[in-house]
Amino acid sequence: MTLRPTRPSDHAAIEALLDRAFGLDRTSKAAYRLREGVQPVAELCCIAEENSVLKGTISYWPMIIDLDTGGAVDVLLLGPIAVEPAISGQGVGIQLMEETLEKARQQGHDLVILVGDLDYYGRIGFSRDGTAGLRLPGPVDQDRLLVKSLQGNEVNDLTGLIRGNRHDG
Ligand SMILES: CC(C)(COP(=O)(O)OP(=O)(O)OC[C@H]1O[C@@H](n2cnc3c(N)ncnc32)[C@H](O)[C@@H]1OP(=O)(O)O)[C@@H](O)C(=O)NCCC(=O)NCCS
Repeated sequence: MTLRPTRPSDHAAIEALLDRAFGLDRTSKAAYRLREGVQPVAELCCIAEENSVLKGTISYWPMIIDLDTGGAVDVLLLGPIAVEPAISGQGVGIQLMEETLEKARQQGHDLVILVGDLDYYGRIGFSRDGTAGLRLPGPVDQDRLLVKSLQGNEVNDLTGLIRGNRHDG
């Protein structure tokens, strides 16, 4: 399995994999609303391939949490991540996350949030601690809102609304 940065020419194969992994109604989810109009963090988006065939994909997006107490925090949104169903359970998902999260850490990013199963993402250090007061622009299962500090910091309560960082001022 080879991991490499995502290229524009991967787009169609990635969309097809996401449809297979999540189903065709995937774009109705709150995470998609958050990502609308936002450019992914290109240097962190990555695919796994074998013999030039796409086997997995992971993306990251720049977000801002407008804290209720004032101020704002930059965070990365991880997702979607998907692995070809035929090779699930072979470690590709964890490999995709570990390599890209390490790159993000080296680049100085700190907080990463995602919407997913604690049982899975807890394996690489994601937790619910601090996310109870975090709101998305659409409905989301609060128990699936997870966060991890890449710089080893304690995560303070993230009480506020998350929005895409559109870099448009
Ligand atoms: C979730 C997903 C990315 C995991 O990728 P993967 O390459 O199969 O996962 P890995 O091989 O790295 O890890 C497999 C382990 O995680 C466990 N696991 C996978 N998905 C899990 C989940 N949702 N909850 C709890 N455990 C999970 C597996 O049971 C396996 O456990 P084991 O090591 O004890 O056997 C992949 O299954 C997938 O694309 N699923 C459909 C899309 C999806 O749900 N994406 C995540 C959105 S939250």
